Amino acid sequence: MLTGKTIIVGVCGGIAAYKVVEVVSSLRKLNAEVHVIMTENAAEFVTPLTFQSISHNPVTVNMFAEPVYWDIKHISLAEKADMVMIAPATANIIGKVAGGIADDMLSTTIMATKAPVIFVPAMNTNMYENVIVQNNISKLKDMGYTFLEPDSGLMACGTTGKGRLPQPQSIVESIKSYFSRRMDMEGYRVLITAGPTREAIDPVRYISNHSSGKMGYAIAEAAAARGAQVKVISGPVHIQKPHTAVIEDVTTADEMLEAALNSYNDFDIIIMSAAVADYKCASIADKKIKKTDETLSIELVKNPDIAKELGKIKKQGKVHVGFSAETNELVTNAKAKLKSKNFDMIVANDVTMEGAGFGVDTNIVKLIGKDGSILELPLMKKIEVAHKILDQILQFKSENS
Ligand code: PMT
Repeated sequence: MLTGKTIIVGVCGGIAAYKVVEVVSSLRKLNAEVHVIMTENAAEFVTPLTFQSISHNPVTVNMFAEPVYWDIKHISLAEKADMVMIAPATANIIGKVAGGIADDMLSTTIMATKAPVIFVPAMNTNMYENVIVQNNISKLKDMGYTFLEPDSGLMACGTTGKGRLPQPQSIVESIKSYFSRRMDMEGYRVLITAGPTREAIDPVRYISNHSSGKMGYAIAEAAAARGAQVKVISGPVHIQKPHTAVIEDVTTADEMLEAALNSYNDFDIIIMSAAVADYKCASIADKKIKKTDETLSIELVKNPDIAKELGKIKKQGKVHVGFSAETNELVTNAKAKLKSKNFDMIVANDVTMEGAGFGVDTNIVKLIGKDGSILELPLMKKIEVAHKILDQILQFKSENS
């Protein structure tokens, strides 16, 4: 499926470099022409000969070594490339590219190419979370570079956290989907609600839930990558927001409803992934409530149901997609919401399953159509779930236009 594609794989100096051997091998099996460029540090972890044998092409480490080809190599590879993928992308290469430094074969190739560049970061968790690295990643994303999210888990340095290189097959899948995905959402306008809402109790306390916004933002990222114009109405979240979507920040369910009603007419596809608080305080104390009594009762009143309100004013040709976060009776409850909220499709989400629901980078969902069809998806990264949801929406649109 990658026949005719030239992929430059840039390998940097990290313990995960050995995993990239399998990536190169899989890309070759898919008929891609693969050229590996290694930094000098990378060659300390895996020998160039290994990559040469697997890629069936000479491996470049030193820019000034005897040229294998009689053209200026960094230019020739940079021009030949259909994609440049950097794995493991270290803090160093990310910083160098963000800072415009081109002082070795890999950084000059990245600088000289017009092909899409995909970074696959892998490093110690503290390094990955360092504000300098995060700022460099944001800067590069703003400039159109793509980043795959690192996995979380036990690191080679013994700590546990985010920063592991994704599994080789997952990297290969991302590359495959990059080449197979068309800009099939050009011309569509997608409105997404994401994250939790927050309902104040007093000036220092609130009612909320565990939604991180990851699912909603993944849909935003996927739709934008496929050419859609995207707006996210977002509750309070602490994740990196995509720069390819317009974000309107709100706090409460009332604010989310108002923002959704204001935007509704401008969008064709409305995806409601937000975990909206169903109740708010009947009145908000204007001063911090003191702990004088043994028990405390707070009167709650129902919040507006945003999905239901939009369902009531649903216009011809618009597609409404909801989510259903359940702990029991997944399909029955989801189907009831599909009907009562006038959705065209609902994403049923058993939030008790490991790897599904709140906060994690993965999800396990069933996509239920209003015709009763059920597409059951295995554990997948939220970005891949997002693409599957969008695929189903496009299919629904083509069947109903
Ligand atoms: O944000 P993450 O950490 O990535 O977690 C993702 C998620 C678990 C939040 C997401 O996958 C999910 O399931 N979102 C829906 C959560 C939810 O509130 O489900 P619900 O079954 O209570 O609501 C059903 C639908 O009505 C949803 O589309 C919801 O957005 C909408 N709703 C609910 C209540 C309300 N007052 N207004 C609404 O619009």
